[in-house]
Amino acid sequence: MNTNTEKQRIFSGIQPSGNITLGNYLGALRHFPELQDDYECLYCIVDMHTLTVRQDPELLKERSYSLLSLYMACGLDPDRSILFVQSHVHQHAELSWILGCYTYMGELNRMTQFKDKSAKHADNINAGLYTYPVLMAADILLYQSRFVPIGNDQKQHLELARDIAIRFNKLYGETFTVPEPLISKQGARIMSLQEPDRKMSKSDTNSGNFVLVTEEPDSIMKKFKRAVTDSGSEVRFDPENKPGISNLLNIYATVKGITTEDAEKEFAGSRYGDFKMAVGSAVCDCLAPIREKYELLMSDRAQLDGILGRNAERAREIAEITKKDVYRRVGFIL
Ligand code: TRP
Repeated sequence: MNTNTEKQRIFSGIQPSGNITLGNYLGALRHFPELQDDYECLYCIVDMHTLTVRQDPELLKERSYSLLSLYMACGLDPDRSILFVQSHVHQHAELSWILGCYTYMGELNRMTQFKDKSAKHADNINAGLYTYPVLMAADILLYQSRFVPIGNDQKQHLELARDIAIRFNKLYGETFTVPEPLISKQGARIMSLQEPDRKMSKSDTNSGNFVLVTEEPDSIMKKFKRAVTDSGSEVRFDPENKPGISNLLNIYATVKGITTEDAEKEFAGSRYGDFKMAVGSAVCDCLAPIREKYELLMSDRAQLDGILGRNAERAREIAEITKKDVYRRVGFIL
């Protein structure tokens, strides 16, 4: 159990498998900094998870640095929170093996993301893709995490992590803190700009579907100009019948920190074209300071390496306590 009586822990991870989109930012990343005051936070760059689909090695490295810079540009402080790379902390792989022996194939078979991903990558349905949720459980349980900020799509994986923790605790006594999801309400679901019935995704092949946090304003404006709207001409919040317009209203409201009702009022009588440009500008204004900080951070690799080195050390210290406890409980000689 967590012996740190001061602050409860929060753990979250993002895969460095693509560039971070506006959807990731508004749905998750934006809320991370505010948690730093009340919790001990660990934000992980989960590079090991990305290998479940093929990655270009150079690009993976670049994207890991990029994600670290973005974490910091969004307001995470590497002296307060622990910002680290998963593969730097060997305990993740070690605990993952053990937890795999306490996870049933029937449970993994039920994971909808596995089913979706194996349909999408039919030529590469590897064992890693299948056991991915076990590694995720190890990530979380290693740090005795109390809360895990995640999107809706990860709820099932978190549920499994809880089940594994409870099962292990029953067999060996209180070993793991049982984690709970932290799901943000507003802005949690930003949809694709071209296909607003689908979530905005960084792995989308059509780049018109998403806006990146680090994208140039010109390019952002172009994408909003081309964003699909709906039939009719009224700017109204009605996700069922007007998914395109409603998504844009949601983006605007989230970026401005207002309700969708207020956003709707603001654009009553506006033409679609003007409305889209207003949303685009609001997004550019919101992202500009982040991009500036990001560029600055990315230009100093030595500094980034220093941060990763120090933070991995802090993470390993915490992780080792849990790992040792688990090794002892299962009967490994220490
Ligand atoms: N599976 C998560 C995703 O794809 C990433 C992830 C890995 C994660 N380990 C985690 C998220 C632990 C939260 C906690 O989005």
